Amino acid sequence: MSIYLDNAATSHPKPESVYQAVMHAMREIGSSPGRGGHRRSLEAGRLLLQAREAIATLFAIPDSSRIIMTHSTTEALNLALRGVLVPGDHVVTTSMEHNSLMRPLTALRASGVEVTVVRADGTGMVDPDDVRRALRPTTRMVAMAHISNVCGTIQPIDRIGAIAREAGALFLVDAAQSAGSEPIDVIRTGIDLLAAPGHKGLYGPQGTGFLYASPAVHLKPLLQGGTGTSSTAEEQPLTLPDGFEAGTHNMPGIAGLKAGVEFVLEQGVSAIGDKERHLVGSAARRLAELPQVTLYGPSDPALRGGVLSFTVAGTDPAALAFMLDHNHDIAVRAGLHCAPQAHRSLGSFPGGTLRMSPGWFSTGEEIAIFCDAVVECCQL
Ligand code: ALA
Repeated sequence: MSIYLDNAATSHPKPESVYQAVMHAMREIGSSPGRGGHRRSLEAGRLLLQAREAIATLFAIPDSSRIIMTHSTTEALNLALRGVLVPGDHVVTTSMEHNSLMRPLTALRASGVEVTVVRADGTGMVDPDDVRRALRPTTRMVAMAHISNVCGTIQPIDRIGAIAREAGALFLVDAAQSAGSEPIDVIRTGIDLLAAPGHKGLYGPQGTGFLYASPAVHLKPLLQGGTGTSSTAEEQPLTLPDGFEAGTHNMPGIAGLKAGVEFVLEQGVSAIGDKERHLVGSAARRLAELPQVTLYGPSDPALRGGVLSFTVAGTDPAALAFMLDHNHDIAVRAGLHCAPQAHRSLGSFPGGTLRMSPGWFSTGEEIAIFCDAVVECCQL
């Protein structure tokens, strides 16, 4: 029995409708939006619009033209940061961030953007009062992940969004680990910029993602090139979304993403989140019985998304992941999960943790087999 518990890296398997949609886009449509007046191109254009509309429905986005398709959350975050920040701006972020947010900020620091990193507590939780204390008159943006990809901590984004709004700062949320499993309403939470992957909780293929930018955001594009619009202009159009999607779209990916989002809408975000929480909770309870095991993240299951990180005394996480894969055909991820500062906050740097992350298609039986396999591999 092959068991996949690395849905935080990318979800697997995908719903059958996603595989069908990718194949349909490649075999039956086979064309690109805005790159021809023929029926195939028009059909691709309709599909792209429908994908944007489905995403808008899921995140309560009032205007789907403000959704920019990207190839990853990383690209979306780079666009949100590099497309907004200028030298002299100040940004508040947290120690729980993935390198997809930290590294562009580090690069921007070199060009005169100032960054304050608010440190999370030992469970990965950020205190909104610490964010408030970090604000300055020049704070242009508060930028943070909704759910930690390392330990699943759900951040209080409603409270932090309100603090950013009061201060007149933009609020950028990295929904890499929450999109599709935790309800997000961009208006209610005051999110100005929402970056998300298509291939994790939205069940689309890899190579998909998006950035939502509210009307309060004035973005500069990262890329210049063909948009299929304003072709007489030598300069890059700044119209949304086309001016920010230069180059041929990943239409097979976007077709799959549309099907994935429709799947999430059918199941319901809360049902998906509850199932993941239930599976993670059962693993946490079982592993917590073992004195050699240290669990990371909040102990209250309501504060944790579908991710569980732990270490076992005397066993290297990477060695355990290797044994689980080779001896038990169980896929998990060990190490620092591209978020070294998060591990510093949790006290698991530099060795990292073993991370298991179930998805909608995971079962209680798989979780039980996983826990037994950990016991066997570590000879507990
Ligand atoms: N950010 C993804 C992870 O945490 C790839 O594994």
